[in-house]
Amino acid sequence: MKSVGLIGWRGMVGSVLLKRMEEENDFLKIHPIFFSTSQCGQNTPRIKHVLPNTLQDAYNIDLLKEMDIIITCQGSLYTKSIYPILRKCGWKGYWIDAASLLRMENDSIIILDPVNYNFIQDSISRGIKTFVGGNCTVSLMLMSLGGLFEKELIEWISVSTYQAASGAGSRHVIELLQQMGTLYNIVAQDLLNPSLSVLDVEHKVTQISRRSDFPVKNFTIPLAGSLIPWIDVKMDNGQSREEWKGQFETNKILGFKNKVLIDGICVRISSLRCHSQSFVIKLTKNISLENIKEIIENHNDWVNIVPNNVEDTLLKLTPSAVTGSLDIPIGRLRKLNMGEKYLSAFTVGDQLLWGAAEPLRRMLNLLINL
Ligand code: HSE
Repeated sequence: MKSVGLIGWRGMVGSVLLKRMEEENDFLKIHPIFFSTSQCGQNTPRIKHVLPNTLQDAYNIDLLKEMDIIITCQGSLYTKSIYPILRKCGWKGYWIDAASLLRMENDSIIILDPVNYNFIQDSISRGIKTFVGGNCTVSLMLMSLGGLFEKELIEWISVSTYQAASGAGSRHVIELLQQMGTLYNIVAQDLLNPSLSVLDVEHKVTQISRRSDFPVKNFTIPLAGSLIPWIDVKMDNGQSREEWKGQFETNKILGFKNKVLIDGICVRISSLRCHSQSFVIKLTKNISLENIKEIIENHNDWVNIVPNNVEDTLLKLTPSAVTGSLDIPIGRLRKLNMGEKYLSAFTVGDQLLWGAAEPLRRMLNLLINL
């Protein structure tokens, strides 16, 4: 049985990963060793099929070197401080990482096996040892449009994203809820008044959200009742880094050399953990909508077509419907006024499942079965 070191299992992505591993009985297939960057010596988490033990020091290189596989959700700073040392001292184990730091390295593969299984298998045979989860919007886009990419039917995509607070981190989710609570509390009494003026209530709420004591430490500005049309740092060409990742990571995952053009605007909204995306797609050739739906739906077990009508869209194509599930619904599919090669689509996906933890868990399974 392979020794698997788990690091960063307490955070949002790590907790979702452990839950999924427990659900799928993955712990029966490995010898897990739990590490901690701050609480070594304390008890390991209670997990079905895992004997209680103590947490090991996540900076103990000698112990880390004994692992066949290390899976980390601890973040880029940890990876930066430990990964090079481990490799430099000759560690030949497999490193599976949720953080973005190693994504751009030539000897790392971005993992999303329903989309690039053959590429992953080929890399394992070539001796690649470093596997990194993709950016969540990219992974969720590829899970939804994988069939069209596979059949090389996409010339370019213009995308607008609607990204959840969880993508920014757990403190951001808490802050969003604090913002919502603050706004509600200030007008809670007014809302009980049958003759309330909605504009007065709106004015009160807007004023509160602009006050200096409104909770904005993490987002820097209000998100509740608003949105933020910028995610991550600015690139030289004016894109945000999140927007830049769309084209770069997609092509790297597919093994293309910038073949598919992808650009757009990434926006943070007040959804909690589902990212949504609206696509305008230029197809490489004119094929029927029926054919398109068939290609999309046959690509993987999780994507499903939502019929383009009000009832199905409201029932199945929203963050509140999708949160907590591995389903990747895609709807609003239709040819646009621009012409027969122009397609619209809208997809929603849980940012912590297919967007983060699930590709790592599945990669672990590929490696433990080697
Ligand atoms: N960068 C993403 C976001 C999160 O800010 O929503 C995960 O890739």
